[in-house]
Amino acid sequence: MKLQILSMLSSVSVVSANWARNLNYRSPSEHHPSLGISIHKVVRRNDPQSPWNPAKLNFTHGVASGDPYPNSVILWTRVGPTNDNDKSNVTVSGYVRLYNHDTEEYVSVSKAPVCVEYKIATDKGLGDIVDSGRVYTSSDIDYTVKVEAKNLKPYTTYYYQFNVCDSDNKSPVGRTKTVPNVDDEITNVGIAVYSCSNFPFGFFNAYGNPVRKDSVDYVVHLGDYYYEYKNGDYGWGQSIDRVPLPDKEIYTLYDYRKRIATYRTDIDLLASHQRFPWIPVWDDHEVADNTYRDGMAHLNNTEDSFVHEGGISVDQRKMHAVRAYFEWMPIRQVEMDDNLRIWRSFSIGKLVDLIMLDTRNYDRSITDLYWNTDYIHTISQDSGRSLMGSRQENWFYNQLSHSSKRGAMWRIIGSQIIFSRINQSLTLGDENPLNLDAWDGYQANRNRTLSLLYENNIGNNIFLAGDSHASWVSDLVWLGNKPYDSATGEGSIGVEFAGSAVTSPCPYGANISLATANYASRWLVSANEELQWQDLYYRGYYELHISAEEVGAKYFGLPTVVRRNGWEISLANFTVKAGENKLQRPVAGGVVESGSLKGGKTVQTNATVDTTNGTWFVSHENMEML
Ligand SMILES: *[C@@H]1O[C@H](CO)[C@@H](O)[C@H](O)[C@H]1NC(C)=O
Ligand SMILES: *[C@@H]1O[C@H](CO)[C@@H](O)[C@H](O)[C@H]1NC(C)=O
Ligand SMILES: *[C@@H]1O[C@H](CO)[C@@H](O)[C@H](O)[C@H]1NC(C)=O
Ligand SMILES: *[C@@H]1O[C@H](CO)[C@@H](O)[C@H](O)[C@H]1NC(C)=O
Ligand SMILES: *[C@@H]1O[C@H](CO)[C@@H](O)[C@H](O)[C@H]1NC(C)=O
Ligand SMILES: *[C@@H]1O[C@H](CO)[C@@H](O)[C@H](O)[C@H]1NC(C)=O
Ligand SMILES: *[C@@H]1O[C@H](CO)[C@@H](O)[C@H](O)[C@H]1NC(C)=O
Ligand SMILES: *[C@@H]1O[C@H](CO)[C@@H](O)[C@H](O)[C@H]1NC(C)=O
Ligand SMILES: *[C@@H]1O[C@H](CO)[C@@H](O)[C@H](O)[C@H]1NC(C)=O
Repeated sequence: MKLQILSMLSSVSVVSANWARNLNYRSPSEHHPSLGISIHKVVRRNDPQSPWNPAKLNFTHGVASGDPYPNSVILWTRVGPTNDNDKSNVTVSGYVRLYNHDTEEYVSVSKAPVCVEYKIATDKGLGDIVDSGRVYTSSDIDYTVKVEAKNLKPYTTYYYQFNVCDSDNKSPVGRTKTVPNVDDEITNVGIAVYSCSNFPFGFFNAYGNPVRKDSVDYVVHLGDYYYEYKNGDYGWGQSIDRVPLPDKEIYTLYDYRKRIATYRTDIDLLASHQRFPWIPVWDDHEVADNTYRDGMAHLNNTEDSFVHEGGISVDQRKMHAVRAYFEWMPIRQVEMDDNLRIWRSFSIGKLVDLIMLDTRNYDRSITDLYWNTDYIHTISQDSGRSLMGSRQENWFYNQLSHSSKRGAMWRIIGSQIIFSRINQSLTLGDENPLNLDAWDGYQANRNRTLSLLYENNIGNNIFLAGDSHASWVSDLVWLGNKPYDSATGEGSIGVEFAGSAVTSPCPYGANISLATANYASRWLVSANEELQWQDLYYRGYYELHISAEEVGAKYFGLPTVVRRNGWEISLANFTVKAGENKLQRPVAGGVVESGSLKGGKTVQTNATVDTTNGTWFVSHENMEML
């Protein structure tokens, strides 16, 4: 009797080890199963004697990898008996599955766990395997699989694949790459930077172009990877056959899962995930518009939320969004019991420390919710206001100091929202000319950051930002406190590269003309002394190419996003020399292809706008078909 119990116990713990290896069973709150999954209840539903018929399972959404470390990387896939997403809410019922041996089907099919194997190798043919394992997934986690592949070598390319256990039912083969050891000297690294991909506004051509060029090592996504809106409220999905599901604003766990799953049908997005390791963070729309610690623009944190169409509290909605995000994104949860923490950092050898922030959901003080703009303006200088909360803010400053002390050449800071002060009185009016939902609404937090950098002589800082759907390139300055010469860049402490959207429309008008867009860009550049280049017209992305000597930023625009295509236009190139802490002069070599360049020229090489078919397509002489 005793023996039997012992052997049962040990087999349970072996099983549990395999189960826990699918990180999504432990996420987003490992030691609070009531906030996540009780693995033991799921294990009990498993019956090794009657495994799934592999022919009834599909890899439904490709593969992905992310959060590379020197010796490990996160691998992701989804495999299940249905393309649809799981409809249960957060709790697990401890369901016992029923198997009909006559029809070879599960009566409660969505509840039966699936066994999956993964392997990672140094060669495309997956012969030289360095790590492999067997894990499980189930409806509880929407049939997602997230594992940490280990035993890897620094700065090395790997190939990986999943298969249904003991079968030939295989996923596509993905490629990934680790980062160098913290003290390794590497000569260069390439990163593609994205934000604001809105499915019903267009095709994700921007994700596909670096795949077609094979031009980078890693992808950084600054958030708004998906949007919560109903198509008709924001988006013209009907006209391009891209209506995201469910066809309504999203609130429940099922809604969030379904929405991400719809986005993950875009071929170019799938290709990027399959080819490059991603380092993502969320912005507001992964939960809802203009979220902050306690609320969001269109849902008040009061009992009114239950009479609103979602019929849900702010916290519950946020919990659904966060849970779905961790399930579906190839992101590493660095603190398994802090289910809101996505702020984390990566050392890319001695070359770069990449510091990824959460200026949105973690602990952000109240933001502009549209009905309180004047109030936010009034308090925008309050010293208690923080975009991050004290815990993250302290971590951020320590990261900057530590990075400088360890002698990392560059500090790259991934911020969702624009750091620089931007006067947009042309469109926002003179009353509130600043975007109070960006760092401009949290000036004490920005001052504390700048003070740390200036006081401690921490240089070579590159801020990245998304969120705005437009391109903004600035010297990093402390206006009103440190002298700054706009012509030479003297006085600056770094550079900010803010990028346009993958598809989300221009903030100055969704179907703005090229002439109107460039007029507004000229106004913006003239009204803001540190803003050296601005473009409103183009959807696109940028690539950073980093070496010990310099950081190069290449901005690309897309002639159209309402059709899938591989065209792109080189809009502008920038260089930041190590130790200079400013954009190299003449900025962008003195000439850009679009937008407005301070003290330089915009030469649109015979740009013509074709609006046949009711869409738009801009032709430039120098554009390339990839
Ligand atoms: C799995 O994929 C096959 C081939 O694409 C398809 O015929 C089948 O319907 C899919 N099954 C499920 C459950 O999605
Ligand atoms: C999940 O929660 C939503 C509301 O948030 C509710 O409408 C739905 O019925 C719940 N689903 C289940 C299976 O309990
Ligand atoms: C939230 O509350 C504010 C202030 O009472 C109000 O103006 C706004 O309309 C409310 N929003 C919603 C979605 O109920
Ligand atoms: C913004 O620019 C407008 C127009 O040039 C000017 O009147 C206003 O004072 C500026 N506001 C700020 C905060 O710089
Ligand atoms: C931030 O710094 C600027 C420039 O010195 C100053 O005008 C402003 O009052 C400061 N705001 C806060 C909240 O520290
Ligand atoms: C940017 O640099 C590339 C070469 O790397 C060049 O082909 C392209 O024309 C440049 N773009 C602009 C706008 O100068
Ligand atoms: C572009 O414009 C220049 C100058 O206006 C002209 O000489 C050239 O033929 C044009 N090229 C094309 C392809 O239209
Ligand atoms: C218009 O549609 C036709 C047919 O689909 C296509 O070949 C052409 O490239 C389109 N033109 C533009 C400017 O989108
Ligand atoms: C803007 O362009 C899109 C895509 O071509 C189109 O569906 C939409 O109707 C246009 N909107 C307006 C206001 O013209």
